[in-house]
Amino acid sequence: MADDFLFPAMRAYLDGLVPPRHPELQAMEAEAARTGFPIVGPAAGQFCYFITRLLGARSVFELGSGFGYSTAWFARAVRDNGGGVVHHVVWDEDLSARARTHLAVLRLDDLVQFHVGEAVATLRASPGPYDLIFNDIEKKDYPASLPAIVEKLRPGGLLLVDNVLWRGRVLDPADAADSTAGVRTLTRLIVTDPAWTATVVPIRDGILAAQRR
Ligand SMILES: C[S@@+](CC[C@H](N)C(=O)[O-])C[C@H]1O[C@@H](n2cnc3c(N)ncnc32)[C@H](O)[C@@H]1O
Repeated sequence: MADDFLFPAMRAYLDGLVPPRHPELQAMEAEAARTGFPIVGPAAGQFCYFITRLLGARSVFELGSGFGYSTAWFARAVRDNGGGVVHHVVWDEDLSARARTHLAVLRLDDLVQFHVGEAVATLRASPGPYDLIFNDIEKKDYPASLPAIVEKLRPGGLLLVDNVLWRGRVLDPADAADSTAGVRTLTRLIVTDPAWTATVVPIRDGILAAQRR
């Protein structure tokens, strides 16, 4: 199933409602389409921007950042909130270098701290606490990332988790892949824990939004 499995026509419609974007963001979207790299895309990017503005977040930590597309949406929001920091973390040197270039062109790089390494270990080693944490690492590793997130998110802070519908695979009881199990387990851990107020927003591949009480 594609990551617009719910309503194939809906994705283009929702992306089309997002205001015009900087040419560099459009170039990043084209780069993702050309190479098949999984970015959040315009509608989910706009949702990330919106929620970061609503929260007034000044400190954001991204787990699994890619070439900086989602980072750019968070950094724009943090800039518009008055400034702060967005942590970009990926274990691939080349992706980190590409992100530095893109964010420099967007003039957002002064807000971003770049880390090359394993994302959960980097979060654990960082001082925190953060206003917002965005999780987009390997799906099988989602459940194990939760304790570090809980430790580093401030009370009232927001967790966003991408791909919680996992292209519909979470709906298939026969799908017992580690990735699918990881997505299902993290989702259940959060929605059944009274310490979180959570909802799944079915934009693109599904984003879990959860506030820590
Ligand atoms: C889905 S992509 C990120 C896309 C990005 N959020 C965006 O929308 O622009 C996830 C990236 O994080 C990397 N990654 C996955 N698990 C990771 C981990 N545990 N630590 C560091 N990087 C990780 C992957 O190799 C990939 O480059």
